[in-house]
Amino acid sequence: MGSLDGRVALITGAGRGIGRAEALFFAAEGAKVVVNDPGVAADGTGGDPGVAEEVAEEIRAAGGTAVANSDSVADWEGARRMVEQAVATFGDLHVVVNNAGNERARALVNMTEEEFDSVVAVHLKGTFAVSRWAARYWRDHTTAGVDRAIVNTVSGSGVLNPLPTQSNYAAAKAGIAAMSTVHALELARQGVRVNCVSPSMARTRLTLGVPGMSEESHGHDPRDPAAIAPVAAYLASAGCPFNGEVFAVRGATVTAVLARSRGAEVTKDGAAWNVAELAGAMDRLPRHDPLAELAATLGGALGGQDRDRLLAMIDEVLR
Ligand SMILES: NC(=O)c1ccc[n+]([C@@H]2O[C@H](COP(=O)([O-])OP(=O)(O)OC[C@H]3O[C@@H](n4cnc5c(N)ncnc54)[C@H](O)[C@@H]3O)[C@@H](O)[C@H]2O)c1
Repeated sequence: MGSLDGRVALITGAGRGIGRAEALFFAAEGAKVVVNDPGVAADGTGGDPGVAEEVAEEIRAAGGTAVANSDSVADWEGARRMVEQAVATFGDLHVVVNNAGNERARALVNMTEEEFDSVVAVHLKGTFAVSRWAARYWRDHTTAGVDRAIVNTVSGSGVLNPLPTQSNYAAAKAGIAAMSTVHALELARQGVRVNCVSPSMARTRLTLGVPGMSEESHGHDPRDPAAIAPVAAYLASAGCPFNGEVFAVRGATVTAVLARSRGAEVTKDGAAWNVAELAGAMDRLPRHDPLAELAATLGGALGGQDRDRLLAMIDEVLR
């Protein structure tokens, strides 16, 4: 018995990388899968419908159930079509995994409007569009007691350590995390749970340039993009109790991300602050240094980065 037996899942960007591994895993766990992917280049240009078809065929050859869809999630009507295709082909829709992604990294001073818009369109609007059409279907076809789930895909660059050159990507991913909370609240009455996975250091074409990514590994490979699939499948499974959460996934380590916690505060009774008073009070609050935090995060992955070395690396990528 599979953990997703009888469930119909639409997985976006499932032709390559993390999404492909999720599609194969979901099908092996018993889900009927719509493999969505227009087969675009890493920057979102071009397209090849054969990319989604190949994964669907791989699933069927292994005895699973899948169909391909090559619409773009950024296309409003395309998002509607992929939801409709799931229902028309398999009779229902239980799970949406919003995983599709592109990348157009560039320093703020050089990023073009088109580079910003194309990344926000695929990640943020695409997650919204597919969720919206799925929510419409669920609103009109709610069956009491049937668990439905959306699994969105965010990133450390967005919810933990936004990276230089990623104005578009970090903003889109942080936006998806916020939007997921909205959707978790709005859809709970229809039995729909909405959570996020935040993959970390998974070896795909989007991360091949990250230092340390291509290192040989012996035995269990923590950078295998397939590491995300069991977590997405768990969040998609009917017995999962979580709603409105973000889980970072690096190899076999799953970390709850505390996106909505409050830190220390200062307050004053009965009157507004003046600036001098506030400056004195604010001295008691801890200060975060985004550079030091990023250096600490990358330290494990890159074999130790101090702040100055990181600054030099940032200067390099911004040049
Ligand atoms: N690899 C990592 O370590 C990592 C880390 C954090 C977040 N992520 C996120 O994981 C997701 C998958 O990324 P990946 O690393 O597997 O990259 P990938 O490039 O291997 O796969 C992304 C897939 O999305 C598809 N896609 C692009 N635009 C699309 C569109 N408009 N409609 C539908 N599909 C589209 C691409 O064709 C591609 O097959 C992305 O959302 C990415 O931001 C990855």
